[in-house]
Amino acid sequence: MEQLGTVLMVSKAPAAWPDALDLLSSQYYRVLTARSADEAKATLSDAHVDLVMVDDGGDGEGLSLLSDLRISHPDVVRILVVDPQYSLAQKALSAASIYQFLRKPLDAVQVGLVVKRALETRELARRHRLLSREFKFSGDSLGVDGRPGVPVHPESHRFEKLIYVSEKMAQLCDLARKAAKTEMPILIQGETGTGKELLARGIHYNSNRHTSPLMIQNCGGMPDELLQSELFGHKRGAFTGAISDRLGLFRAADNGTVFLDEISEVSPSFQVSLLRFLQEGEVKPVGSDKTETCNVRVIVASNRSLKAMAEAGKFRKDLYFRLRGSELEVPPLRDRPDDIPALAEFFAAKHSNAIGRKVLGISAGVWEKLVHFDWPGNVRELENEIRRMVALAKDGEYLTTDTLSPAILAAAPRAPRVVKGFMPEGATLKEKVESLEKQLVGEVLSRHRWNQSRAANELGLSRVGLANKIKRYGLAETS
Ligand SMILES: Nc1ncnc2c1ncn2[C@@H]1O[C@H](COP(=O)(O)OP(=O)(O)OP(=O)(O)O)[C@@H](O)[C@H]1O
Ligand SMILES: [Mg+2]
Repeated sequence: MEQLGTVLMVSKAPAAWPDALDLLSSQYYRVLTARSADEAKATLSDAHVDLVMVDDGGDGEGLSLLSDLRISHPDVVRILVVDPQYSLAQKALSAASIYQFLRKPLDAVQVGLVVKRALETRELARRHRLLSREFKFSGDSLGVDGRPGVPVHPESHRFEKLIYVSEKMAQLCDLARKAAKTEMPILIQGETGTGKELLARGIHYNSNRHTSPLMIQNCGGMPDELLQSELFGHKRGAFTGAISDRLGLFRAADNGTVFLDEISEVSPSFQVSLLRFLQEGEVKPVGSDKTETCNVRVIVASNRSLKAMAEAGKFRKDLYFRLRGSELEVPPLRDRPDDIPALAEFFAAKHSNAIGRKVLGISAGVWEKLVHFDWPGNVRELENEIRRMVALAKDGEYLTTDTLSPAILAAAPRAPRVVKGFMPEGATLKEKVESLEKQLVGEVLSRHRWNQSRAANELGLSRVGLANKIKRYGLAETS
């Protein structure tokens, strides 16, 4: 069985507690002992300790050790042991901010229970801190989309919270699932709003690290010192305002994942620190001369090309090579128009659900514009557009072009994309034209996921006209 934690007993006469020591050892704690405050401090600097239990001995020395530890080792749980008649001064107690005190003679079973509960409480507090962080960073993305009852397009697929239909995203998510199972760093590239953060979350929750924390840090626009201390921690007094030790995101995420967004924006000195972590698994808190180890998987994202930056000498090449253990490129929305209807439906359901509006659906005119627009802000822009339209719609109505943004309304149908390398077949002009027609009809159908009314609408055909062409060319839905 794994060890439950390390307990340090500090007493001038540790042998006076044989029962308690034996019981803790038999309950799978590692038990260390120290006979003085100095010895205790030396042990604490060498070994990882979860809880200290200090016998005060009546001279106040124990209590003052606990007060010191509160500052130097804030994560170690503190328990005080006192003589039967010892009267505890409230002030001294609060300076040490202890978890519990016990009176002698010690009852081994009570000690066992108090230690167990103390460590449980600490773990809960730790998780609470991590979760509050996760909520703070994730903003609205932890919102209603996880709610039961929000319908998702029947043909769409999901990778955690990513919704997709297109082949391009299917391939990307397959790659991401495979990369998730490795321990390598992952570099996610893609334009703004394409879903890089959602992909990173999907990877974490599909990895073996999913029960440990995912920590997210946006590196853009952060002063270097602040970023270093957020991620690697700092020692008390390392700089003005550093009033206590700080653990840092890397160590808080131990056994989990750290996601660094906008990695292209970090300073050269931060790049050195990150490289050291990737090579040695070591972090050095700001103001400390000691390095600490931790085990986290790093995922980074950038909407600028790191490769181009590395080639231009604007980003360390060695770091770039380390980071791209796996490289994932999220395509812009305009290059995967098949995703637009599924996403639009999903967002319409999500946002009408959120504000209790009963929207009937999205009108054909809107569909056409949504599919033809270029979406420079990608999925985020699409979501904002739909959210706004839902807010302006009335109960029992469709979302119509009346509330569509002017820029999207002005979207001209895209020139039909002739598939790269496509050569019309046939000898005569008639045969070549038919072969091209077959190709184009097939493409539009697949873009609308074989929704024949929408495809007919885009092609300017009646539904019957489209059905005839499907029959004539022997077109069939393939995937
Ligand atoms: N495939 C998707 N399915 C559902 N929601 C998505 C999808 N892609 C993006 N979104 C939503 O779009 C918004 C932007 O996504 P995200 O923050 O992951 O993008 P990003 O690439 O990290 O953007 P930036 O480069 O600006 O940081 C979020 O609200 C997210 O929930
Ligand atoms: Mg992002």
